[in-house]
Amino acid sequence: MKLNVKRDDINFGCNILDLTVPRKLRERYKCGISYVDDAFGGEGFTPSTMTLFTGEPGAGKTTLMLELANALTGQGHVCLFNTAEESLYQVKMTCERLELMHGFVAGQESYVPKLLRQCTKLRGIYPTKQFFLIVDSLQTLNDGKYGEDHVNSQSAVRSLQALTDYAKENYINVICIGQVNKSGNMAGSQKLKHMVDAMLHLSIEKKDEDFKGYRVLETIKNNFTEEEARLSQTMSRGFCGDDSGAWWAPLGFWGIYTVVGVITVGIAGIACAGLVAAGTSYCNYQNQ
Ligand SMILES: Nc1ncnc2c1ncn2[C@@H]1O[C@H](COP(=O)(O)OP(=O)(O)O)[C@@H](O)[C@H]1O
Ligand SMILES: [Mg+2]
Repeated sequence: MKLNVKRDDINFGCNILDLTVPRKLRERYKCGISYVDDAFGGEGFTPSTMTLFTGEPGAGKTTLMLELANALTGQGHVCLFNTAEESLYQVKMTCERLELMHGFVAGQESYVPKLLRQCTKLRGIYPTKQFFLIVDSLQTLNDGKYGEDHVNSQSAVRSLQALTDYAKENYINVICIGQVNKSGNMAGSQKLKHMVDAMLHLSIEKKDEDFKGYRVLETIKNNFTEEEARLSQTMSRGFCGDDSGAWWAPLGFWGIYTVVGVITVGIAGIACAGLVAAGTSYCNYQNQ
């Protein structure tokens, strides 16, 4: 593994005081979803950041990343949502269900060299906009070392490396979903964690009775924030989640919307009061 963090425009042996940091690297881009911006230290994304976003199956990684792609596009950035996990028809139907209206760019490329060529093309079409690439998921990628048809156990590592190098070279942001198993582990996760600038983890609350089923977004690592503490955010259970067929089904969509809305506002009020005291931020998924 060799990350290409070296810049050709910096001479070996230069005095650090003489370095001029590119203006781009001092910029921050918010997505407008408060708990995601908070997870990045409150300032949003730093250009050239590689983020690994992990979570157990069904935690809501794809859902949150679609929300993010939509929000980033709404902020005027270009966001390519590239998936090899689901068909774009499925993605489109999820977007309809979530009422995502901003129209991000979508792709289905698992071969990294081709994916990066497509990114370069898109960046050329929108040269003045900040470019974001969301990949669903790392495990589906082929870095190309053994051609288009063969991968091995190190393909994910090499793919992450290629995407990281591309992000650093071109000051773009890459967010890569990483699948973990039910016990929360991912093959080579320590190595992958070391390679990325930021790592977020999404889990489903199982122990706390009051928040059971809620999604917890945790910042495991972030090189671009001074925030030392781990930040946990709890997102309320979505009405369009796995609960179809439950007691509330006869109420229908709008009935549920209203009931869940009222309950959520109530819980959010109580939770906020408690959490302000506890110094933790809790957020409401449905209000985004
Ligand atoms: N914040 C949330 N609250 C409740 N349900 C959610 C939430 N996010 C996603 N879901 C639901 O959970 C299921 C799995 O979500 P998905 O995004 O496909 O998970 P993953 O990509 O992590 O496997 C979907 O049915 C989705 O509607
Ligand atoms: Mg998924």
